[in-house]
Amino acid sequence: MRNLLIYCYLLVSSLANVIQLTTKNFDSVVSNPDGNPTLVKFYATWCGHCKTLAPIYEEIAQHYSESDVQIAEIDCESNRPICSQFKIKGFPTMKLFLGNNDSDDAENVVDFKSSRSKANLIEFIDSNLEVSIPVVESSPSKIVQISELDFDEIKSQDKDLYVVFTANWCQHCLKLHPDWEDLAKVFENDSNIIIGEVETTSVPHKSLLSRYNIKSFPTILGFLQNGDILEYNFKERDLSTLVKWVNSNSGLFRDIDGGISSEAGLIPEIDKLLGEIQAYQDDHGLLHDLVNKVEKIEGSEYYKKLINKIINGEHQTYIPGEIDRLNKILKNKLNQSQLDNIHKRLNVLKKFSSIIF
Ligand SMILES: *[C@@H]1O[C@H](CO)[C@@H](O)[C@H](O)[C@H]1NC(C)=O
Ligand SMILES: *[C@@H]1O[C@H](CO)[C@@H](O)[C@H](O)[C@H]1NC(C)=O
Ligand SMILES: *[C@@H]1O[C@H](CO)[C@@H](O)[C@H](O)[C@H]1NC(C)=O
Repeated sequence: MRNLLIYCYLLVSSLANVIQLTTKNFDSVVSNPDGNPTLVKFYATWCGHCKTLAPIYEEIAQHYSESDVQIAEIDCESNRPICSQFKIKGFPTMKLFLGNNDSDDAENVVDFKSSRSKANLIEFIDSNLEVSIPVVESSPSKIVQISELDFDEIKSQDKDLYVVFTANWCQHCLKLHPDWEDLAKVFENDSNIIIGEVETTSVPHKSLLSRYNIKSFPTILGFLQNGDILEYNFKERDLSTLVKWVNSNSGLFRDIDGGISSEAGLIPEIDKLLGEIQAYQDDHGLLHDLVNKVEKIEGSEYYKKLINKIINGEHQTYIPGEIDRLNKILKNKLNQSQLDNIHKRLNVLKKFSSIIF
């Protein structure tokens, strides 16, 4: 029964209206007299990313089947002159021809540059044209769609890769999907994290399932930069549990809004020692002992600096001044790692003000 369903699915999608372009018909389709715009996918039959894209591309064709937008593709191996005319260097390349008569005019062609998801493609087309197709408002997905053809390449990027393996007939997968989407948003600015999906109904996947012994859907695996492979085994698959799992595996402190938690930067072991010396903060011997202990703890440089401020009697001006200064810096435009660093420092500074003063 399942095979039959997949077969029907393939049959239906192969009926979608992707226009096949050749050297002969290219100009008449792309520079058509009606001025209709055309999205063209330049591809090669041997290219793995093209195979991954194929089912998505057919969905795009279906999406625009009732509109003036033409969805087309051209095989660059059998139509080299066209592909060299447009200086195609990699596959797949997608260009939107805006539908004026002169397809050679660079003004009439826009290159697609973002990641190749259905939502991104629709956003790209709609934002370049004034098409009015009733679509559900949705921001582009941050989930990286993966197949067995590009899995190893994506995994080898020195990032922590978290992948959910799904199938379109699986109800638990459907239920998980919004949370997985939110998870990808939470970590969208963490350049070391990839949140991906292998949607096994529409992409090649068999070797992956056997390699990782995947027998049910959804299965969630984490592939860490250090080579560890982790399986997500929690009963709950809600956003908060997923975020905590990624945080603890990847040493991050995201909250479910993508902000940083108030625990980031703190080292509980040192906080405990600080609590113990609270009553003796004028005892320099004790403070020096503390510095010696703290030095042995990994990542404790900032703590050490602040304890030295206490020893030098500067902390009562330094700590509030530093909190003010960092809060001012936060008003600037900063990238994620700068933001994180400042928030971590602020958390430590606040811990000191609560314990020491
Ligand atoms: C394209 O060319 C045809 C024939 O020359 C002309 O009738 C039509 O208006 C042109 N369309 C656009 C969008 O310029
Ligand atoms: C990621 O960065 C962009 C640009 O600064 C920002 O608009 C977006 O809200 C950030 N996302 C998260 C989850 O913080
Ligand atoms: C963030 O900005 C700093 C300073 O401009 C830069 O050194 C750092 O590489 C940037 N980090 C990322 C992840 O872009």
